[in-house]
Order: sequence, then C-alpha cells, then structure tokens
Amino acid sequence: MALLPLKELYLECLHCTKCDLSKTKTNMVFGEGNLKAKVMFVGEGPGRDEDLQGRPFVGRAGQLLNKMLEEVGLKREEVYIANIVKCRPPNNRVPLQSEIDACLPYLRNQVAIIAPKIIVCLGATAAKAIIDKNFKITAMRGQWLERKGVKIIATYHPAAILRDPEKLEPAMEDFKKIKEELDKLS
Ligand code: URA
Repeated sequence: MALLPLKELYLECLHCTKCDLSKTKTNMVFGEGNLKAKVMFVGEGPGRDEDLQGRPFVGRAGQLLNKMLEEVGLKREEVYIANIVKCRPPNNRVPLQSEIDACLPYLRNQVAIIAPKIIVCLGATAAKAIIDKNFKITAMRGQWLERKGVKIIATYHPAAILRDPEKLEPAMEDFKKIKEELDKLS
C-alpha cells in the first residue's frame, strides 16, 4: 500500500472492508493524539467502550493507562495512541492473524506520518505483531530494541494489569524507562 496522508488514511480506514471486523464494529477506532508525538502507544484493538465512542483506550483499561502516564509525568495529549486492529473483535477476542495482517499496513502508515522516536507495545498482541511473532511478554517486556532508528519496548497491557494487579509494578518500571528515554530526546 502506498503511503497516504493522514486524512486520506483515515477515510480509507473508515470505509475499509478488508476483514470481517468491519461488519460487526460500531465505530472504526483510528487512533488519536499528538501528531508530533515522540512516543506512540499501541494496544491490541478496540473494546466495547472504544467501539461505542470511536476512540482508543477510553474504558477501564484506558483510565488505568491515563493514570500510568500521569504517574511518570506524561500527558495523554502529548502522546499518540493506536491499536493493532482498528475495529473491535467480537466479545473482545484476540484479533485473528488475518485481521492483523489486513489492518497492520494502516498502523505502519500512521507510524510513517507521526514518525515517533519510541513505540510502546501494550501487551502480547501488539508485541507479536510489531516485534516478533514469538514474543513472550512476561520474559521479554521492558527491554529496548531498535529498528530503523526507532526505539521499541513492550510492557503489560493495562487490561492485563486490571486482571492481575501484581503486573502494575513491573509495568510502571517500564513506563519510567520510557519517560527517561523521552527526556534524553529533548
Ligand atoms: N484495549 C486495547 O487494546 N485497546 C483499546 O483501545 C482499549 C482496550
């Protein structure tokens, strides 16, 4: 897919029928945030609240994400937030590989437009799609890698932290690392 400017990309996503998630969604969730963000957070896919509102991370997991950002001195308005798939998988199931493959070029296009210096994979689905299909979140989170000049790190998904609060502390360590790296950039 040739790279599109943001508005055209948004419209392409809005009218996308490349996978069946387009048939069951309420709203496409494009992603939002600062177009000049140095850091981009990538989740798995819209949940119920996101599907209803058309915005990423606005439900319980999103509220936790906001708190985690705040805790390390980051504002939601200064980052960019998107997902691996832009339409909600039914009952919040993990997106199928075919759905990920269909949607990933849109995310890549967004990354090319925003040109973040840091990409944060929230959870295993994002880490597998962006870093390596064999990525193991518990063993491999919190480690920096670099691709084409972009630093990439994975940490626990906020929804996973809500299910298992013991994951909060290691995830906060990762968020602190991310903030430190960001401070080095400016
Ligand atoms: N979980 C995600 O992965 N993404 C969202 O936007 C909301 C919840």
